[in-house]
Amino acid sequence: MFNPTHRASPDFEAFLARERSAEVVRVVVCGSVDDGKSTLLGYIMSAMDCRYNGTDAANFASLLDGLTAEREQNITIDVAYRHIKVGSRRYIFADCPGHQQFSANMATGCSTADIAVLLVDVTKGIQAQTRAHASIIAMMRVSKLICLVNKMDAVCFAEEPFRAVTRDIARLASVVGIQDLTYIPVSGLLGENISRPSLRMPWYKNTTFIRDLSEWRREDHQANDPIYVVQRVVRDQDGGRGLLGRVNGGELSVGDLVKVASSGETAVIEKITRGWDCVSSAAKSSSVGLWLDRNLDVARGDALSLAKMPLETTTRLNARIAWFDEECCSLRRTYDLKWASVWTACSIECIHSTDPFCDRSFGDENSLCRGDLRTCEIALSHPIPYVEHHRHPELGTFILVDRLTRNTLAAGTIKQNLMKSANVYKQPLSITRSDRERLNGQQGRVVWITGLSGSGKSTLANLVELELHKRGHRSYLLDGDNTRKGLCSDLGFSDAERMENIRRLAEVAQLLMEAGLVVVVAAVSPFQRDRDMARGIIGNLYFFEIHVSTPLEICEQRDPKGLYRKARAGQIADFTGVSSPYEAPSRPNAIFDCSSPIETAQISALIGQLHL
Ligand code: ADX
Repeated sequence: MFNPTHRASPDFEAFLARERSAEVVRVVVCGSVDDGKSTLLGYIMSAMDCRYNGTDAANFASLLDGLTAEREQNITIDVAYRHIKVGSRRYIFADCPGHQQFSANMATGCSTADIAVLLVDVTKGIQAQTRAHASIIAMMRVSKLICLVNKMDAVCFAEEPFRAVTRDIARLASVVGIQDLTYIPVSGLLGENISRPSLRMPWYKNTTFIRDLSEWRREDHQANDPIYVVQRVVRDQDGGRGLLGRVNGGELSVGDLVKVASSGETAVIEKITRGWDCVSSAAKSSSVGLWLDRNLDVARGDALSLAKMPLETTTRLNARIAWFDEECCSLRRTYDLKWASVWTACSIECIHSTDPFCDRSFGDENSLCRGDLRTCEIALSHPIPYVEHHRHPELGTFILVDRLTRNTLAAGTIKQNLMKSANVYKQPLSITRSDRERLNGQQGRVVWITGLSGSGKSTLANLVELELHKRGHRSYLLDGDNTRKGLCSDLGFSDAERMENIRRLAEVAQLLMEAGLVVVVAAVSPFQRDRDMARGIIGNLYFFEIHVSTPLEICEQRDPKGLYRKARAGQIADFTGVSSPYEAPSRPNAIFDCSSPIETAQISALIGQLHL
């Protein structure tokens, strides 16, 4: 067991204090394959060993000079992140592989980078990957770009090839929208213009790479907008609940009133812990424990802000997306989106033909392929806090992942909240869900029944509700056929209208569940993405998915409303199972094949699963 009273030695504590106070500068190094990244990093990193010999050097130059021997050993860097401490600064170099398939890593590296270093081989000029990387650097708004025109030794240190490459880069930078840019002719192999001005390129009078790095100063963004993202919920010995997470953007202090983005609940910070210590405030970018004056309904991925600066949440947004995958993006296909530590299903609803944020036109081409950077409208099945990328570069980004292969397909930056309810904040209610549940003597739940038309959903839903009623449970049944006569009478059966139909059913079911009822929903709900959205609205813990799996032939034979006949005759468009697909749930809580009569024991087993 770790003993919390144990203290490290004073030396170690002093070391930790020094480490904590160091300014961290993140440098992402990118470029096409073979442009010389490993050699360059090798040149710099070989100097790192000096640190372990006790030479905590005052600057890179003194580290790098006289390292010819190591340099010539052809050091290859195979680890993604490298740290160098120089004076009071700690540089973290992220080495991003230049291969196409690694663009995702590049975006991850850029999402937190202060400086981007783009290497271009002077003998090859700009490559496809140089363009892709420049787009990502621009999209992630890395504040400074240093372009190293490398392998100058291969062109006998001549000025003209360097100028030719810089002209192309200047054009590329203006297309993707990069402003702060330095060009330096270098030889990573020989260390020319890396730490010392090169004697072999007297025509170049500007800065060296290391000087440019060390002269960079962080713009002090006003730190007034702290967002705390919860990584874990923990308990202390007295049963009190604490949160572990990271402060982004600004500072949080003991006594601050904070608000949870998802629920609108508020609480006062009673204690802030850092490691084993209690501290009075937490600076931006620090990872701390928060102990609040009351228990909130908070989970991993929730975001807290100061109550006076509440966060909106969103399920629809405009984002700039850089697409990496070989396969182009498919509109309205379901992808997984990861924001902070939160996963949600999403789809790209449209790709804008002009980029409203940089005033560029792309023509009407409605596709997003490898290397493209476009603004898209995205629909999420679960709300995430709305954090604009330009206000919070770290939190305003996300990645898109393939649901099956788990490959990272794209990275995006959050630009605009498209929810019409923007600027509306959730208000906490005095009577809570648990107050209502206590009065009802049961827990609120949603039983979501999905299946083909004519499969027996309504029959099953009624049997479940009858049994609940018999056992004294308060319930309500939302049947798709009924709600389509009122609440959803304006909706048809296109994919988008079905999605809206399911959204409304899920929202109503969620309200009834909050009121402490057991809600039974019977709706075809043929698309996994829409059911995931319903699950997101209702909450995974309370959502019970039942698949009525009666085969299509039997549903069609029965055809209780004569709809299959009409659909086969072409009189009904988009009919599920005939001219529109049905996606069976992959892991439902229960499956009922209603080809044969349902037995009471099956209903009892289902109600047992609800733990009312
Ligand atoms: S859902 O797909 O949006 O979930 P919902 O369950 O509300 O559908 O409504 C389905 C009911 O509408 C079916 O039971 C059927 O009676 C009727 N219906 C009419 N047109 C269609 C169609 N094109 N596809 C499926 N059901 C249809």
